[in-house]
Amino acid sequence: MVRTLIAAGNWKMYKTVQEASAYAEAFLSRVGNFQEVEMIICPPFTALPALSQSLSHSPVKLGAQNMHWEVKGAFTGEIAPSMLKELRCQYVILGHSERRHIFRETSEEVGKKVQSAFAWDLCPILCVGETLEERENGATNQIVEEQLLKGIESLPPEKAHTLVIAYEPVWAIGTGKAATPHDAEEVIAFIRQKLGEKLGQEMVEKIRILYGGSVTPENVFDFVVRPSIDGTLVGGASLDPEKFWKIVQETYRALQVK
Ligand code: 13P
Repeated sequence: MVRTLIAAGNWKMYKTVQEASAYAEAFLSRVGNFQEVEMIICPPFTALPALSQSLSHSPVKLGAQNMHWEVKGAFTGEIAPSMLKELRCQYVILGHSERRHIFRETSEEVGKKVQSAFAWDLCPILCVGETLEERENGATNQIVEEQLLKGIESLPPEKAHTLVIAYEPVWAIGTGKAATPHDAEEVIAFIRQKLGEKLGQEMVEKIRILYGGSVTPENVFDFVVRPSIDGTLVGGASLDPEKFWKIVQETYRALQVK
């Protein structure tokens, strides 16, 4: 089964509102009406209102990089799902390795966020992945399984098909050292197997699993052409509209031969 492929850009803590608007103009002039690949941009919170406007009549979808699970309350510095909905976000990245490792987010917290995202009709992009040390200790599957199963513990079955998983090995993020497509497929097959045990095979066929970690216009094709890889979550290379558009085009090229 060929699922719609995704090219998602995670801008992390890059771009002011002004820079984001200039990017949108440059990127949309390339995109035009192109809809064969699902394109998602996840800017910092501050740029969401401007991008919500500029992307509103385009095929490019908007996502956030994080959120709190509560709807409102005394949570200084946090952003609620209702606030993202108001800005017409459709996706939200949850459990990114930078959140897990730098900000000490636990898999239990990520699970609460996933549940809350579904309650608000936001599609979670749930990130999982092992560190280099964990991989070298042979613990990749164990780590990925823990992050995955706690992440989807309270998944409403009727919405499970909208879940997106991103396999992002920590050692490949921002290092210029991407995993090999073969290594990525191995872990993605394991993720699909675990999802299947929980949700049933029919549902699993609908869930999209992305690869992330040093994806570039040059290497993206080799990932997304693989039957089990449904797109990419791109950091650094998504910051340049030309490069991100190239990634979208390469993804489309792969789709045609899949
Ligand atoms: P890079 O593409 O910069 O390695 O970042 C990957 C990532 O963390 C996307 O979420």
